Amino acid sequence: TRPLKVALLGCGVVGSEVARIMTTHAEDLTARIGAPVELAGVAVRRPSKVREGIDPSLITTDATALVKRGDIDVIVEVIGGIEPARTLITTAFEHGASVVSANKALIAQDGAALHAAAVEHGRDLYYEAAVAGAIPLIRPLRESLAGDKVNRVLGIVNGTTNFILDAMDTTGAGYQEALDEATALGYAEADPTADVEGFDAAAKAAILAGIAFHTRVRLDDVYREGMTEVTAADFASAKRMGCTIKLLAICERAADGESVTARVHPAMIPLSHPLASVRGAYNAVFVEAEAAGQLMFYGPGAGGSPTASAVLGDLVAVCRNKLAESTGPGDSAYTQLPVSSMGAV
Ligand code: NDP
Ligand code: HSE
Repeated sequence: TRPLKVALLGCGVVGSEVARIMTTHAEDLTARIGAPVELAGVAVRRPSKVREGIDPSLITTDATALVKRGDIDVIVEVIGGIEPARTLITTAFEHGASVVSANKALIAQDGAALHAAAVEHGRDLYYEAAVAGAIPLIRPLRESLAGDKVNRVLGIVNGTTNFILDAMDTTGAGYQEALDEATALGYAEADPTADVEGFDAAAKAAILAGIAFHTRVRLDDVYREGMTEVTAADFASAKRMGCTIKLLAICERAADGESVTARVHPAMIPLSHPLASVRGAYNAVFVEAEAAGQLMFYGPGAGGSPTASAVLGDLVAVCRNKLAESTGPGDSAYTQLPVSSMGAV
């Protein structure tokens, strides 16, 4: 089988990890997909920057030429922001590529139009990494819960602000000090205002609400309050009441089922509530569905490696679809590993 060609748009915190895992897990990926995947190009802004493990001949600053090449099967968009990402994605569809993206800002703003463009050209658009890093949330909501009725999605969906609030609460760190550390760890957006003012969480809330309630929710529909005004004194008062403070995203179906609301704001959480013990850049999301009851999704919500995990999962799915076009769906390849009957947790 011919290798599937993958082009990376962006090779920063997330993109560099995607490239690394594509190389180190090449054999496993080939087995999971049923064909090898080949990194065929990497678009960046600064071509002279040293990029460990990446063949320098793959690097280009001309992302448009890369997506127009016509021989690329999958574009992985990890540049971020609205433009040039939006134009690059639509151009990729026009030139026969499917797209995996981690770009919540773009999906929240233009997801419907991008989906329409994907459908028009018979291509895929996947974005599991856009919400809550490594945590599988988009596909469970879109697929596993498709036969149920989701009434509420509530939780912590921004790792940077949870990292800051957690540090302020538990170590007494200052806001700026904690934000600088979150940035150094690769959790924050290129402009961290998106994190601390709640825009990033609002984009994720819009995406989640749209999928959970089968409706269109725009970023502007989401009530948004950031966490820049939360002070050490607020934490002291919260503590006296047996609480802590978290930045929550809350998406709800109205009791009459006729409307939905989505909002992002800091909230007091009783210390006994599971959300109170979500530490660092972890995220946690509760989904309440009529038949399923309450489900909790929990895990690393930001950072290069966790986010790359979600991107790679989408890449495998999109590559399988691509392959099925020419060969029909195949069996996943399984490797027989020794199975032990006893284990300890
Ligand atoms: P970075 O800022 O680390 O990386 C952005 C990359 O895009 C860089 O390699 C940069 O090039 C490249 N780039 C910027 N502009 C252009 C352009 N015009 N043409 C070609 N390349 C360009 O961002 P992240 O990796 O952190 O984030 C990428 C995306 O993933 C964003 O949408 C973000 O919201 C999302 N995301 C990030 C997470 C995280 O924890 N970091 C988690 C989940 C999603 P150069 O290297 O030369 O500067
Ligand atoms: N800046 C984002 C966050 C990255 O901190 O949650 C993950 O989407």
